[in-house]
Amino acid sequence: MDSFDNNRAFMKSGCDLPEREYVSDQEKGIAPPPVEKPIDSSLKTIELPKVDKSIVKHSDLYHCIDNRRSRRNYKDVSVTLEELSFLLWATQGVQKIVPAYKKTGFITQRTVPSGGGRQAFETYLAINAVEGLEKGIYLYRPVEHKLVFCHPEEELAQKLIYAYGGENYQDEARWLGKAPVVFLWTCIPYRGEWRYNCEAYRVMLLDIGHVCQNLYLACEGIGFGACAIAGYLQIAFDELVRVDGQDEYVVYVSAVGSLE
Ligand SMILES: Cc1cc2nc3c(=O)[nH]c(=O)nc-3n(C[C@H](O)[C@H](O)[C@H](O)COP(=O)(O)O)c2cc1C
Repeated sequence: MDSFDNNRAFMKSGCDLPEREYVSDQEKGIAPPPVEKPIDSSLKTIELPKVDKSIVKHSDLYHCIDNRRSRRNYKDVSVTLEELSFLLWATQGVQKIVPAYKKTGFITQRTVPSGGGRQAFETYLAINAVEGLEKGIYLYRPVEHKLVFCHPEEELAQKLIYAYGGENYQDEARWLGKAPVVFLWTCIPYRGEWRYNCEAYRVMLLDIGHVCQNLYLACEGIGFGACAIAGYLQIAFDELVRVDGQDEYVVYVSAVGSLE
């Protein structure tokens, strides 16, 4: 049992611990990190269509919650930019930007809640089949509601299948290679650490659950399916999206597609 103790303690709130003596960077008066990661401004950007609620076929919330399932049987049909735009908005869409932290920074209010408004995630997309887009890795820019084309990826399906579990899980992971789009959420841990120090990790893992649940429900609304993935080869996914695995790394993955 002892070997589990630290991990069990990790799930508890640390607010009342006597050893909670840290001073966070926020408390030190250090300005917060930016709400979006800085990127190379020469990367190609793709405008996303404005989200139009008429895309939702099942607007009944009860229906979406009651039908939610993990679904792996995607149709061999490309996703439209309108559908993608809706799913990105539902999972990370920015509703409002408000000055915060004694005007040293901003909070983005989004379609998903986040402890302290830290919104510590970036959304990468492994795009296999989206109308008008080249196969490859893209990054969502929530403030501008745009996509950035990070790099092309010829062997994308094979790389996704491999990253699911390596050589021994190739058959089990075939469905993932068939997904038209795979969401790859990375975490930028300093966004949480800046405010919550060593307690940030628990809050950030709680937050990513909100993001994926919105994806599940949004998919139900447009006749799509999603399937979350939390067990994968860390290095393989970090390499696929080209993050360093230290200051940014993949924390959760979900395939999406319209259904058979
Ligand atoms: C946190 C989490 C992690 C998951 N990880 C995986 C995974 O690594 N591979 C996979 O095929 N499915 C994964 N799933 C999908 C679950 O296996 C699925 O949710 C479960 O079988 C229950 O089915 P339901 O979502 O339709 O209720 C995951 C789901 C969640 C919520």
